[in-house]
Amino acid sequence: MENKTHLVDEITGHRRMRRNRKADWTRRLVQENRLTVDDLIWPIFIIPGTGILEPIPAMPGVNRMTVDKAVEAAKEAADLGIPALATFPNIEMELRDETGSNSLEKNNLINLASAAIKKAVPNIGVITDVALDPFTSHGHDGILRGNEIVNDETVEQVARAAVYQADAGADIIAPSEMMDGRIGAIRQALDAAGHQGVGIMSYATKFSSGFYGPYREAISTGGLLKGDKKTYYIDPANGTEAVRDAALDVEEGADMLMVKPGLPYLDICWRLKEAFGLPTFAYQVSGEYAMIKAAAANGWIDGDKVMLETLLAFKRAGCDGILTYFAVEVARQLAKK
Ligand code: PBG
Repeated sequence: MENKTHLVDEITGHRRMRRNRKADWTRRLVQENRLTVDDLIWPIFIIPGTGILEPIPAMPGVNRMTVDKAVEAAKEAADLGIPALATFPNIEMELRDETGSNSLEKNNLINLASAAIKKAVPNIGVITDVALDPFTSHGHDGILRGNEIVNDETVEQVARAAVYQADAGADIIAPSEMMDGRIGAIRQALDAAGHQGVGIMSYATKFSSGFYGPYREAISTGGLLKGDKKTYYIDPANGTEAVRDAALDVEEGADMLMVKPGLPYLDICWRLKEAFGLPTFAYQVSGEYAMIKAAAANGWIDGDKVMLETLLAFKRAGCDGILTYFAVEVARQLAKK
């Protein structure tokens, strides 16, 4: 016994990592990262009508909701201390067309939601996406001409849509459509319209991912999508390209950066934070949420534990916050501690 201890001390030179792990109090004392409610952004799905909560089968625990229900949800989120919501509309099929023209309707669903939420709960941040996919009949994020998603025309349209979103009360515009030059164009359009105070959270590195499936069910674009999004989203193989793409967004005036999906791209979170030092967020997307829920429902993992562990991992990877469908669940748990 004594000999063995001598051997380990010889090997470690008396440095023993387990000293700091020996009790709850030492572990708390040396803990480097903490998840708090201030780190959470809650993505919600809006549908037309009133008084409806509609479960999304591939996202257990997540509902699509009408604007009045979204206002209630915003109140609950604010009471829990969640700083911001990110809203996504599921509009009627009849309103979707080739160019996503409903994105330019002043009083479209997303803008009605922003106005209602900001009126009822002024202290919660509202983040809106300007990608065209909820509005197009083909499910692409931009305008489709022939087989091509046309860049410049799309940029012009999303910049105009951004102004309407800001007019309706959005605090942060979050463009996710990955067109070139969009951040600069949106900044110019917002400033020209007097919205200097409205920020831009760029979906700076959005990867062409298989993890978006449940989201497409949530906003009913899955069945519509022709082909894939590889001509505008980033190849999951490419980290350096992602950093270059984010660099352009920073130059063009992004206030915050986002990495999407989250967990498989923690290296990108770290690289962006190191390279630019901007507030950096990860989007724990629908497929990540669904995987955790499904495994937990089968009793294969401890869902709560894995939820908290994944969110903490984002913090360790340098993120300032996380967009997560777990936001309310986590906030409730953190409040109990
Ligand atoms: C598209 C968009 C996507 C998500 C939000 N906006 C991806 C897509 O459908 O291609 C995904 C969010 C999620 O999966 O939770 N602009």
